[in-house]
Amino acid sequence: MATPSSARKGSPVSDSQPLVVHITGARPNFPKAAPVIAALGDYPVTQLLVHTGQHYDEKMSEVFFRQLGLPEPDVNLGVGSGAHGAQTAAIMVGLEELFADRRPDLVVVYGDVNSTVAAAVVAVKMGIPIAHVEAGLRSFDRRMPEEINRLLTDRISDLLLVTSVDAIAHLGHEGAPADSIHFVGNPMIDTLLRHLESLDTEGVAASVGLDTTQPYAVATLHRPGNVDDPADVAELVRAMHAVADQVKVVIPLHPRGRGRLEEAGFMDHDNLSVIDPLGYVEFLGLVKGAAAVVTDSGGVQEETTVMGVPCLTLRPNTERPVTITHGTNQLVQRDTLPGAIADVLAAGRQETWPVPPLWDGHAGPRIAAVLAAHLGLSTSHD
Ligand code: UD1
Ligand code: UDP
Repeated sequence: MATPSSARKGSPVSDSQPLVVHITGARPNFPKAAPVIAALGDYPVTQLLVHTGQHYDEKMSEVFFRQLGLPEPDVNLGVGSGAHGAQTAAIMVGLEELFADRRPDLVVVYGDVNSTVAAAVVAVKMGIPIAHVEAGLRSFDRRMPEEINRLLTDRISDLLLVTSVDAIAHLGHEGAPADSIHFVGNPMIDTLLRHLESLDTEGVAASVGLDTTQPYAVATLHRPGNVDDPADVAELVRAMHAVADQVKVVIPLHPRGRGRLEEAGFMDHDNLSVIDPLGYVEFLGLVKGAAAVVTDSGGVQEETTVMGVPCLTLRPNTERPVTITHGTNQLVQRDTLPGAIADVLAAGRQETWPVPPLWDGHAGPRIAAVLAAHLGLSTSHD
């Protein structure tokens, strides 16, 4: 099993500094962790960045470290893909060994992936405090593995760091102590706002063969509910081809569904371009200029809300209702998608749009302040 190569330091450095271990592993973890790690650098802590290896393709992992200024992981457990039990267990085995060796003062987990819940279960049983970034989101759909991961992680976390107001109510109803809940805003949006002005829409559009004088849509699809079952896939192909009948569509396709979509003839439409996953800045550059986005991603619902890009979420529910009430998002089904895209294309993009409270680019420092207070620290500048 992997061992830590080095410890990442906050400032100033001292042997007596508390050790904070950040757990990442899947694509959506990286843009959430980056602003927290950066902001925590202002405090006298030692930071250790763990990559579980849940995602491992260059475009699902390494590119984020390069583009987001994330430090190299100190530890990569290299667990790779597998069934839920096997993958979660492999992460737990690796982390148990690491935590026993390093005895962290705090473990920070992000989002709702298997790496998140695996780390939380190991930490709680070892008596190590846990901070959950993006706590309290609920789809109320237990068919989603992420919903199970959210429920379990929140139940055993000490610090519940919340991105939207609805999450506070969910946690309260589930009995979380009020003083464990901290409304800090959305670190994913910190990362977006940091890059927003420099995104090169024209350049990336040209590189994927788009003519930006014409409207285009971007799609991402990876949820088991859309891409795992061949019957769902067949319906999805029909729906997406009906979208492509109306507008050019570019799909940086997640590896999960690629084989099944290919077999179902997904790629056989002249107006639909399936490409490999894009790096973060390329992906958001493309989204920024899009007339519409079709997605089942969690993060993309949030990013489109802040960018004012109409978002059609191909799911029966969302754990991010704030992107509907305060954003550009709407839920669609496979049979309503073609009509919804027609409406969105006809309406065009709005000049102004609301943005959820505290999605302002400062969640990282707020989260760092909560973590530091828990550790009994003030900033290194005080
Ligand atoms: C995971 C998360 C999901 C999140 C998504 C973001 C869980 C349970 N699911 O889903 O919540 O929305 O990441 O992208 O944690 N694969 C590769 N290369 C990679 C990674 C995966 O080819 O670098 C393929 C493998 O065939 C693998 C499949 O994708 O079996 C699924 O990967 P996995 O990490 O198990 O789940 P995701 O569907 O990616
Ligand atoms: N993303 C990317 N390249 C892509 C697709 C997505 O960089 O080709 C980014 C995007 O910013 C998104 C994040 O990866 O918010 C995580 O997305 P994903 O859909 O994989 O995970 P989810 O948020 O659904 O858990």
